[in-house]
Amino acid sequence: MEYRELGRTGLRVSEIGYGAWGIGASNWVSATEDESVRALHRAIDLGVNFIDTARGYGESERIVGSVVRERAGDEVYVATKVPPRNGKWPAPDGLDPAETFPGDHIRATVDESLRASGLAAFDIVQFHVWSDEWVGRGDWLETVAALKKEGKIRFFGVSINDYQPENAIRLIETGEVDTVQVIYNAFSQRPEEKLLPSCREHGVGVIVRVALDEGGLTGRITAGTTFPAGDFRNAFFRGDRPAQVERRVNALVADLGIDVDQLPDIALRYVLDEPAVSTVIAGMRTVRNVERNAATSDGRQLTAEQRATVKRHRWERNFYNAD
Ligand SMILES: NC(=O)c1ccc[n+]([C@@H]2O[C@H](COP(=O)([O-])OP(=O)(O)OC[C@H]3O[C@@H](n4cnc5c(N)ncnc54)[C@H](OP(=O)(O)O)[C@@H]3O)[C@@H](O)[C@H]2O)c1
Repeated sequence: MEYRELGRTGLRVSEIGYGAWGIGASNWVSATEDESVRALHRAIDLGVNFIDTARGYGESERIVGSVVRERAGDEVYVATKVPPRNGKWPAPDGLDPAETFPGDHIRATVDESLRASGLAAFDIVQFHVWSDEWVGRGDWLETVAALKKEGKIRFFGVSINDYQPENAIRLIETGEVDTVQVIYNAFSQRPEEKLLPSCREHGVGVIVRVALDEGGLTGRITAGTTFPAGDFRNAFFRGDRPAQVERRVNALVADLGIDVDQLPDIALRYVLDEPAVSTVIAGMRTVRNVERNAATSDGRQLTAEQRATVKRHRWERNFYNAD
């Protein structure tokens, strides 16, 4: 496992981080706690030292906290997230920060997350949505500063709204944020345009989410793929979307001249090739996926030709949207 600086935090984080949404039994169905615990331990054994969870991920904070406490001898960093008080994902335009992240809500939620996880502090607390309209307004900034001072959180980050990578640049420029979390993958390449250069310039850590396109870039989504009832992917991959994904993946794999099984590795390398990226929090619920993804962090980069090929397969769209 290779490690990188998380912006100017002084933390050195594993290139492959652990995305712990799927293990919480909230929006993803069928993870078992036994397998999740085994996967987390295997990840730590293989050098993963960064885990991303959230108050909104069902049992995830509890499971992550218990494994991290058990592994007290290993330095493992945990990032969690505060949900917006109005419960709206992503944050629409025109909201007052008093509706989304008032200080009393931030404080109460962080305390709940600490209780659920059994941890004494979080390395990073992120707002689960963000709008640059909130810069300079509300009492969120002084609350974050107070929580840092009290030792409940070490660093502050935001999770950028889906496919709106520019909607955090004003915040980055204020110097008040330590990390951003963003959707960036072989299909959704837009962060390369403005966000990543801005993070580099201001020393902000970049946590990449959905590097495997919620499974689209694993080769496992094909026409007719279905998911268990209650799984959020029923909406994300509904209608003819699996068939669209299959066509795109087949074209990409053919151009790269690889077996589809190699696609997750190539997709993770594509985002890791950007030096502004600190860690890629792959969603992993099994030991198998942990082992395969951890193996990607070996210091090797894509060839210039492979990178150019992936770039040609850019496909910007928003499957989180209802239409
Ligand atoms: N708004 C937000 O802040 C937000 C939103 C989304 C995600 N996140 C964070 O980002 C993390 C990553 O996103 P995600 O989990 O939604 O999506 P993702 O990482 O793009 O994809 C996860 C999917 O890829 C599969 N997978 C992983 N490694 C694989 C491999 N080597 N071979 C084949 N399949 C593989 C997983 O399989 P299994 O299902 O078998 O495990 C899962 O179905 C989340 O866990 C969460 O921590 C944050």
